[in-house]
Amino acid sequence: MNTIRILSEKLASQIAAGEVVDRPASVVRELTDNSIDAGADRIVVRIESGGKRLIKVSDNGIGMSKDDLLLCVERHATSKIETASDLLNVKSLGFRGEALPSMAAVSRMQITSLPQGRLTGHRLKISGGKMLAIEETGAPAGTIVEIKDLFFNLPARRKFLRAARTETDHIVDVISRAAMPFPRIGFRLEDGVKKILNLSASGDTLSRLSGLMGRKVGEAIMEGEEKYGDLSIKLYAAPPDFARSRGDRLFVYVNGRNIRDRFITKAIMDGYGKRLMRGRYPQIALFIDIDPLEIDVNVHPTKQEIRFRNARKVFQAIVSAIANRLARSPQPFSGQGFIGSEAVPVRKGLLSSISDSFISEPPWEYSPGSERSDSPDQTVYPSRTASLEQSMVPAGPRIIGQLGNTYILCQVEDGLLIVDQHAAHERVVYENLKRSLSASRVEIQGLLIPHELELSTKEKRVILGKGDRLRGFGIEIDHFGGNTFLLRAVPALLKNVDWNSFISEFVTEFEEGTPDEDALLDKAVTLMACHGAIRAGQHLSQEEMSRLLSELGEMDLPTNCPHGRPIFKHFTYYEMEKMFKRVV
Ligand SMILES: Nc1ncnc2c1ncn2[C@@H]1O[C@H](COP(=O)(O)OP(=O)(O)O)[C@@H](O)[C@H]1O
Ligand SMILES: [Mg+2]
Repeated sequence: MNTIRILSEKLASQIAAGEVVDRPASVVRELTDNSIDAGADRIVVRIESGGKRLIKVSDNGIGMSKDDLLLCVERHATSKIETASDLLNVKSLGFRGEALPSMAAVSRMQITSLPQGRLTGHRLKISGGKMLAIEETGAPAGTIVEIKDLFFNLPARRKFLRAARTETDHIVDVISRAAMPFPRIGFRLEDGVKKILNLSASGDTLSRLSGLMGRKVGEAIMEGEEKYGDLSIKLYAAPPDFARSRGDRLFVYVNGRNIRDRFITKAIMDGYGKRLMRGRYPQIALFIDIDPLEIDVNVHPTKQEIRFRNARKVFQAIVSAIANRLARSPQPFSGQGFIGSEAVPVRKGLLSSISDSFISEPPWEYSPGSERSDSPDQTVYPSRTASLEQSMVPAGPRIIGQLGNTYILCQVEDGLLIVDQHAAHERVVYENLKRSLSASRVEIQGLLIPHELELSTKEKRVILGKGDRLRGFGIEIDHFGGNTFLLRAVPALLKNVDWNSFISEFVTEFEEGTPDEDALLDKAVTLMACHGAIRAGQHLSQEEMSRLLSELGEMDLPTNCPHGRPIFKHFTYYEMEKMFKRVV
C-alpha cells in the first residue's frame, strides 16, 4: 500500500509560509523591507495587540499597478531578480518573492496601492490564501499592506505567539534594525493611539544612531572606517563603558542587509577584547561592504544569515577595525591626553606635582553658555585661562589625593579623573607578569619561611598532576605529606597575597582545564594580578599613587583591568558645568 502522499497545495503553502513568517515581527520586517525596496522615504507601521490583531504598513514608494497587485501574492513572484546570475549580485532587500504569498496564506490580508503618477489605485483582498476581490479605489501614492489576524487558520502557530508586549518589543527591534542604515527614510511605529517610535528622516547616520541608541551614546560614539582590499568596514562604536548585559545593540549590516550572525558577534567581542567585562556586549553599528560575489545571501528564507567565501578574512578585518579604533580613543594615561609632548612626561608631571598637592579653588572665569558661542576665544575651561595656567606649575596631571582609601583623584587638563586604585594596579601587575612570563623571565622570590597549605583531596590531585605547570608560572609547591603542601617560592611581583585562597582559586582554573595555552596563561595571570594588586581600602602615600599612575601610563591597555572593569572615570569641566547648571 502507498504511504507517501503529495500534500495539498494549501497545506504546502502554509508550511512554506512558516519558514518566512513566524511571528508579527517577521511580517513587519518583510513589509518594511518591501517599502524600502520600493524607494519610500516615509514608512508608517501601525499595530494592534502586538501585531497579532493588526499590522499595517504604509509607504510612499513606487506603488503597484493592478496587474502587479494580482501577481505579487503569487509564490516566487518578484520584480527584483530575473536570472540565476542576478542572485549573485542582489542589491535589494527582497529577492525570493515569498513574503507576500506567505503572509497571504496565513492571515486576512489587504493591499492597497497607487503607483506614483497614476490616478486610480486598487485594493486586493485575500484571506487564508484565497483571493476575495480586487477593486478600484482612491488611495495615496504608494502602498498600504494590512495583515489582520495572523495565523487565524493555523491555531497551533497562533498559540505560540507571546504576550502583546513581547511581540511589540520584537517589532521595535526589527524596525530599529531596518531603520539604522537608512537615515533618509522616516520611520514611525504606532500601537493603537500610542506612538512608540518616531525616527525622523535626517540623512545622517549619527543622528539616526542617536535616535535609536539614545543621545548619550550618540555623543560618545567613535566613528571609524577601514579598507582591506575590496572589503570595507565602517563602524560606529560606543565606548566600552556603554556595554550592556544583552547583545541587543549590535547592529550588523552586510551590503546594507541586517544580519544576525554568531561569528560576527564573536569578531565584535574580540575587537573590544579585554575592554569588556565578561558577559557584557557593546553597542555598535557595523557596516560591512563587500563584493557581492564574496557572499551568499540566499542561505535562509529570512535572509538574516549570510555565508562568506573568506570568513577568516572578514573576521580578522572586523576585529582589527574595532581594535584599531578603540586604541585611538584618547585616554589620559596614553601619553598624549594626560600630559604634554615630552618624552615620558606622565612620570615627570606626577612626581613634580607631589609637593604641590592641595585642594585648591581655581580662579574661575565664568561665562554663560550662550555667550560662549558668540566669543569662541573666551573659554570657560580653567586650564586654558591664563591665570590658571600660571597657577599650575607644572602643566599636566596633578594628584589631588586619595578618596576613601580606594580612589585616586587627579586633576587633568580638562577636568577630573577618578582612578580605581585596585583596578589600576591589577592592570600594571597583569601586564608586567605577562611580559615576564612570556619571556620566561619571571622574577621568583623564595619565601623565607615556606607557607603551609592545607588542601582538599581534589586540589591535591591537581597539584600533584600539574606541579610542573605551576613552576612555569613562578610558583613552587612541594608535597609535605597527607594533604599538606609547602609553598616555597612565588613571583616577586606578588605581595600581600592570601596564599590559601589564591592557590585554591588557581587550582580551580587548572582543573577546568582549558586546552588553549594562551587562555590558561591569561587566566593564571589575571588571577595573580587580582590577588597581588593593591586592594580597595588600602592607604597609599603620594609617592605610591604617583608611581602607580606613571606605571599605568606605560601599559598597553590602561583603560580596563584584566577583567574588563574600567580603571578610571573622567569628568570634564563641561560635564561639571552642566551638572551645576552653569551651562544648559
Ligand atoms: N510596498 C511595496 N511597494 C511596491 N511594490 C511592492 C511592495 N511590496 C511588494 N511589492 C512588489 O511585490 C513583489 C513581491 O514581494 P515579496 O513577496 O516581498 O517578494 P520580494 O520582496 O522578495 O520580491 C516585489 O518584488 C515588488 O515588486
Ligand atoms: Mg519582500
